[in-house]
Amino acid sequence: MSDLGPVAWPPEPIATERLVLREPAARDRATFIDLLASPEVHTYLGGPREREELELEMPRAPERWPGSFVVELDGAMIGQILLRRATDDRRPAAAGKVDLGFLFLPDAWGNGYAAEACAAALDWFDGALPGEPVVLTTQSANVGSMRLAEKLGFTEVERFEAWGAEQWLGQRPAAAPAG
Ligand SMILES: CC(C)(COP(=O)(O)OP(=O)(O)OC[C@H]1O[C@@H](n2cnc3c(N)ncnc32)[C@H](O)[C@@H]1OP(=O)(O)O)[C@@H](O)C(=O)NCCC(=O)NCCS
Repeated sequence: MSDLGPVAWPPEPIATERLVLREPAARDRATFIDLLASPEVHTYLGGPREREELELEMPRAPERWPGSFVVELDGAMIGQILLRRATDDRRPAAAGKVDLGFLFLPDAWGNGYAAEACAAALDWFDGALPGEPVVLTTQSANVGSMRLAEKLGFTEVERFEAWGAEQWLGQRPAAAPAG
């Protein structure tokens, strides 16, 4: 994966009804570690990282790059949204396209926060890089992620076997040009 390319970054924080999307900051470090070390979060993502290792390796201020949003509820980080360009050409349908990823703390699941935040990130994306589709890959067994993909308007392109499980590749069409 590589970053999005020429977009104005960071944008002003994006406020939704209940959430704020913004770039990562030093105060998010502990939550990034919680996210990456969580077995629940990584059930369908190849397993969690070791917390001790993360404590040693994670920079004081989490990495910032165009397309990496922290999602905040009442002033505290609850998740991350990633928009990155897929460089892996093993899936021709995804190669070169922008890929949506999302990780939320288990305590925040089941409230519609991921759907609300992803919709806002995709709106931002439509303005930043108009006319580009977005793809999303998830294990088909990841029911929460599959439901979210459907709510966000992704439809199936293909299913394939990788990393020891069936994967679902979906695509959201490019937004119609403004006007
Ligand atoms: C995938 C993931 C983000 C989904 O989170 P989620 O909280 O289930 O997703 P949503 O924001 O869509 O919320 C879902 C539920 O909230 C409920 N909900 C409660 N209040 C709500 C509200 N005000 N508005 C909308 N939904 C609400 C809905 O019933 C909805 O359930 P449904 O999908 O059965 O209809 C989360 O499970 C996660 O972080 N998983 C680990 C990481 C991962 O696997 N990422 C995918 C690979 S990139």
